[in-house]
Amino acid sequence: MSKICVIGTGYVGLVTGVCFADLGNEVHCLDINEKRITELNNGIMPIYEPGLEEIVERNVNAKRIFFTTDYEAALSQAEFAFIAVGTPSGVDGEADLQYVREAAEKIAEVVDHSIIIVNKSTVPVGTGDWAADIIRKKRGNDELEFSVVSNPEFLREGSAINDFMQPDRVVLGSFDHSAAEKVAKLYHSLRAPILITDLRTAEMIKYASNAFLATKISFINEIANICDELGADVREVADGMGLDKRIGRSFLDAGLGWGGSCFPKDVKALAHMAVLHNSQPQLLQAVMDINRNQRRRIVYKLRNVLDGSFSEKKIGVLGLSFKPNTDDMREAPATEIIYLLLNENAAVQAYDPQAMENAAAELPEITLCKDPYDTAKGVDALILATEWNEFKQLDFNRIFKLMRTPILVDGRNQWDSTRLREIGFTYIGIGQGNHNGNGGQS
Ligand code: NAD
Ligand code: UGA
Repeated sequence: MSKICVIGTGYVGLVTGVCFADLGNEVHCLDINEKRITELNNGIMPIYEPGLEEIVERNVNAKRIFFTTDYEAALSQAEFAFIAVGTPSGVDGEADLQYVREAAEKIAEVVDHSIIIVNKSTVPVGTGDWAADIIRKKRGNDELEFSVVSNPEFLREGSAINDFMQPDRVVLGSFDHSAAEKVAKLYHSLRAPILITDLRTAEMIKYASNAFLATKISFINEIANICDELGADVREVADGMGLDKRIGRSFLDAGLGWGGSCFPKDVKALAHMAVLHNSQPQLLQAVMDINRNQRRRIVYKLRNVLDGSFSEKKIGVLGLSFKPNTDDMREAPATEIIYLLLNENAAVQAYDPQAMENAAAELPEITLCKDPYDTAKGVDALILATEWNEFKQLDFNRIFKLMRTPILVDGRNQWDSTRLREIGFTYIGIGQGNHNGNGGQS
């Protein structure tokens, strides 16, 4: 059993904290957001993540996890301080390190015993050294013993607990090998491969992994757009490619492009780092361009079917979170598409199973509906933006009667186009080309 402090109780911090508690450690989760900590102490989760509430409740009852805003209390006798604060995009695309800096300074201020500082936030290569410098400077010349270990996190929202408990790998980077070994022990019971590298290499593994996954998605989206024009079906192309073990099927689902709190900011930050250090990140630029255009392309396709204008048109959108099983709307493709539609004077109504509270704050210009059928009522087109399970088996005969014009835009290739066309819908998919070179419409 180890005593662990986790700084930041967002997706990564809260999941890390509760999973380490579940593995038998004593975990003190710390946040500067008082409301968040009060709610956590009252059993209210700050985010929607499947399975999170149950595992938190179990560990609160077992007195293995505690929530506080008090740095001194949380760090008292902690062997490990995990940093899991946000690293959003700065003005120029760089990672904004202000929260990491504040966390490092606070640790330097209050710690009075030797400690291993483990960074889980996604940070530019070199940040581990930078954080160590901040702590040393703040302490002056005293003899505080500390080591910095980079431990990038690879969990996905929507399956975060599972991803943490069954990781493909654990990456640890440090110049202090024995500190990295101590962190490795925290993960031993998960029986995952553990890779120990130097600090900078571990930091780069995180960016390279996210950038590669984003590249896979942009690649298949580019292929999808070519499929549209040439009459091939990208879903089967992805299946055919994916059977090659060197390629793999995952992250080859064509759609509206990648969103979320990480891919967009991380690809941007890696490109920024590259330019700052005399490299030309041409591939990363193309990956971002393709992604941006994927949203515009669907608006273009729909405008064409609507005879060239969105004026006086009402559009329904199903799904507002950036992916299913989360209420996170950061950089969600749906939001970008909605703004493009609003700019062209369309009226928009939408529904999401979990993101309605966030949507009310972020998209005050649209009407929020109570379910998919309410969203279909009176619209000229219905767009599937996020592939929540509850949108997969809709009563399309009912939807056909509810819509003003029966146009379906399947932004995630989830629906059966043949059946929908039989009902009478105009169906627009992604890369499902219909051999007429007309961009997949019919
Ligand atoms: P988040 O925005 O959900 O949560 C960050 C939390 O840190 C907030 O609750 C905030 O109040 C708190 N915080 C900020 N400054 C603080 C400070 N000085 N002291 C204590 N608490 C502070 O962020 P997130 O999505 O959990 O991401 C955290 C980091 O992990 C980012 O670098 C991100 O790139 C990376 N990451 C995220 C995911 C993901 O799925 N969200 C996955 C892997 C890695
Ligand atoms: C992603 C990575 O998968 C995690 O390994 C990483 O830890 C995390 O970013 C992070 O650094 O924050 P996440 O953003 O939660 O996780 O979700 P993903 O499942 O990767 O999906 C990201 C986006 O890509 C979503 O908008 C999703 O709809 C899109 N996507 C995904 C596709 O368009 N096609 C696919 O085949 C897969």
